[in-house]
Amino acid sequence: MNLKIDTELDYIVKIKKINEGKNLKYFILTMGCQLNENDSEKISGMIENMGYTKTENLEEADLVVFNTCCVRENAEDRLFGKLGEVKKIKEKRGTIIAIGGCMMQEKHIVEKLKQSYPFFDIIFGTHTLHKFPEDLYTKIIDNKRIEDILDIDGEIIEGLPITRNDNIKASVTIMNGCNNFCTYCIVPYVRGRERSRNPKDVINEIKELAKQGYKEITLLGQNVNSYLRSGNTDFDSNIKSFSELLREVNKINGIERIRFISPHPKDFTDDVIEAIRDCDKVCKIIHLPLQSGSTQILKSMNRKYTKEQYLNLVEKMRKMIPEISFSTDIIVGFPGETEEDFEDTLDVVRKVNFEQVYMFIYSRRVGTPGDKMENQVPEEIKHERFDRLKQLVESQISENNQKYIGTIQKVLVEGISKTNNELLTGRTDSNKVVNFFGSEELIGNVVELKITSEHMWYLKGELFDKC
Ligand code: 5AD
Ligand code: SF4
Repeated sequence: MNLKIDTELDYIVKIKKINEGKNLKYFILTMGCQLNENDSEKISGMIENMGYTKTENLEEADLVVFNTCCVRENAEDRLFGKLGEVKKIKEKRGTIIAIGGCMMQEKHIVEKLKQSYPFFDIIFGTHTLHKFPEDLYTKIIDNKRIEDILDIDGEIIEGLPITRNDNIKASVTIMNGCNNFCTYCIVPYVRGRERSRNPKDVINEIKELAKQGYKEITLLGQNVNSYLRSGNTDFDSNIKSFSELLREVNKINGIERIRFISPHPKDFTDDVIEAIRDCDKVCKIIHLPLQSGSTQILKSMNRKYTKEQYLNLVEKMRKMIPEISFSTDIIVGFPGETEEDFEDTLDVVRKVNFEQVYMFIYSRRVGTPGDKMENQVPEEIKHERFDRLKQLVESQISENNQKYIGTIQKVLVEGISKTNNELLTGRTDSNKVVNFFGSEELIGNVVELKITSEHMWYLKGELFDKC
């Protein structure tokens, strides 16, 4: 255990004492990706150890945490909307307001907060998350506003308490930061350079999760397939690469499924493809962010692959692993994108036939090269292209769904369906949601289901009786 975590654990104990008998509640809102969700699980773990219980009702919260994202403008707008709401609650009950995460690493945002929303109590960035107990303690004792933001890359702190959102599926962050500097992307500026966790810590965390009954693990990082390739890689471990990590996780008893997000196509080396092929627990759907299908746009995005290289990679993976399928991220309306460029994107979508496409309208991010490019695409053209892409994707999804009907699928049962409490819900290896009738005892197990119908965003199935 290192000194930093010991100090924070001491603060946790101190605040717990202060809070004793007060029945305090906290509310947390996460606005970003799965990495942010995983950070929020750590924040929740610290807060619960300090004596707060979780509430979903903002109005009864004594402590509110907003864990922010800045990857697109709409994520930012959400924070400002929520702050307006929470101001009134603070006036009524003295709620402590803490704002953390990626947006806090942006200077112009912090300035805006100070000017227009000066009622916040604590702001903390992506490199100071582990210091939340200390910041909260200082706020409680000195009653002054805290700004705890570091511009240098934070160390990886092991041993933080964690309260997970789920008890079947768990996310495990294997690395922080990004070195790629795609020209549209703010992430390298707010999460810093790539730092890999010690493989031993990763494996121990997953073994512990398996002991607790977790069945599915998602390995997280901005660029998972460059795990252990940059930053400090001097660890005393036999695991030296992402593919070796996959092989080791595959050996852990109790874990049934392994997923990972996101790899970068430029770093998808053969050893990783071979590990996916050889490891029975690694799901055979790969998230392979395309961003654009145009070689010209990919170049100006600084993606370091061409349309043909992307398609060749997909072909190679299909040859080596015939059952493989793909999901992807696509941005429409990057500066300079012509109709022809956009047609290239549609062409790749038609050729690859993705299982799932996460589509985004390009959003200018202050401080990135894309924001300074002169040939910005007008909003109405971006929206018109987005709609065309969406139409194509939806027609492919419903066509692909047809192929599932009548097949037998292994489904990890996750719980009771949120839309119909008479049904159970789970996911196939390819991440398709399947709803079916069954007994609650099946939750947490992998069952075989015969798929009976498709409904665009989910399938229906019935328990398959082998007799
Ligand atoms: N505008 C729109 N989408 C973006 N993404 C990242 N930055 C931007 C931006 N400025 C998308 C990319 C990435 C996903 C997480 O978010 O597709 O893969
Ligand atoms: Fe995740 Fe990037 Fe958003 Fe941060 S800015 S929460 S890393 S998507």
